[in-house]
Amino acid sequence: MSSDSISITRPDDWHIHLRDATALQTTVPHTARVFGRAIVMPNLNPPVISVAEALRYRDRILLAVPEGSAFKPLMTLYLTDTLLVQEITKIKNEESVLAVKYYPAGATTNSDNGVTNIENVYPAIAKMEELGIPLLIHGEVTDTEIDIFDRERVFIESILEPLLCKYPALKIVFEHITTQDAVEFVKSQSDNVAATITIHHLLYNRNDLLAGGVRPHFYCLPILKRSIHQQALISAALSGSPKFFLGTDSAPHSRSNKETDCGCAGIYSAPAAIELYTEFFDNHGALDKLEAFASFYGADFYQLPRNKDKVSLIKSTWTMPENFMLDDSVVVPIREGQTIAWQINKD
Ligand code: DOR
Ligand code: ZN
Repeated sequence: MSSDSISITRPDDWHIHLRDATALQTTVPHTARVFGRAIVMPNLNPPVISVAEALRYRDRILLAVPEGSAFKPLMTLYLTDTLLVQEITKIKNEESVLAVKYYPAGATTNSDNGVTNIENVYPAIAKMEELGIPLLIHGEVTDTEIDIFDRERVFIESILEPLLCKYPALKIVFEHITTQDAVEFVKSQSDNVAATITIHHLLYNRNDLLAGGVRPHFYCLPILKRSIHQQALISAALSGSPKFFLGTDSAPHSRSNKETDCGCAGIYSAPAAIELYTEFFDNHGALDKLEAFASFYGADFYQLPRNKDKVSLIKSTWTMPENFMLDDSVVVPIREGQTIAWQINKD
């Protein structure tokens, strides 16, 4: 299917990093301009570990939502070794707190307080299974001897499969999957297991990060993999399976924290997220698959109503700015200074 315009049910972003304080002035308008809802990651410093903190964080986000936008942030708690079962129970009564995020300790940005051993959190996970609260998983092992390109695959065998054997009804979102192994794993599971796919893992592979020079703005975690894995993600997104849905993992870092000896992981895609997903589906002749991926399957998985209103996009080129203000610095977005084929139709 090919066309120069498309109208879809308003999409949601099921995985976003908005940060905090003045950064919200940049990140929230970029996401709220088009997404109806977004699941906000709790990896602040210090992390969001209670329902009360999640609600205060939500209030700070709401203050940065531009007028006229009905954007709703959906909050998450950060799973630590000591998160209490009582805190999990509180989530059930709180409409705007939706899920718990599992970071293996040391896996990525602000994950130092993450889980050191999955067995430490079995009681919390048992409660989540019982109450139907989703566990959102950063699926990478952290053992330093495991090659960075294998960390997702090894996580599936060593953590995820045993976890699902013990808690077969647990709702799991395998976040920002990057490998064929993850695609196969998610497909092989029942309806309680789904995955988000970022736009950067659909558009790029490790050559974009490493061939001809190291490009720090393509460095994210899980790291971009080789082309066969990218192809598996592309097939999953285009397959029309409700197990795969949109989650940008848009994760801003200042330019100076990216362009340095030990640069931070994260790609800032929010300023062009839906435009790039649209371009991607269009380039694969699959515009008819965009709406379900972007606007239906995530809401269905979380048992939330689909958005009621629509967003339209037109095939008309624009140029992404070189950077945006972020705190007292700048953030370099995906496709900086380059063209993007689709834009929101504001008429
Ligand atoms: O690239 C990433 N950036 N991956 C993550 O898991 C975290 C994120 C961030 O918070 O910067
Ligand atoms: Zn993330």
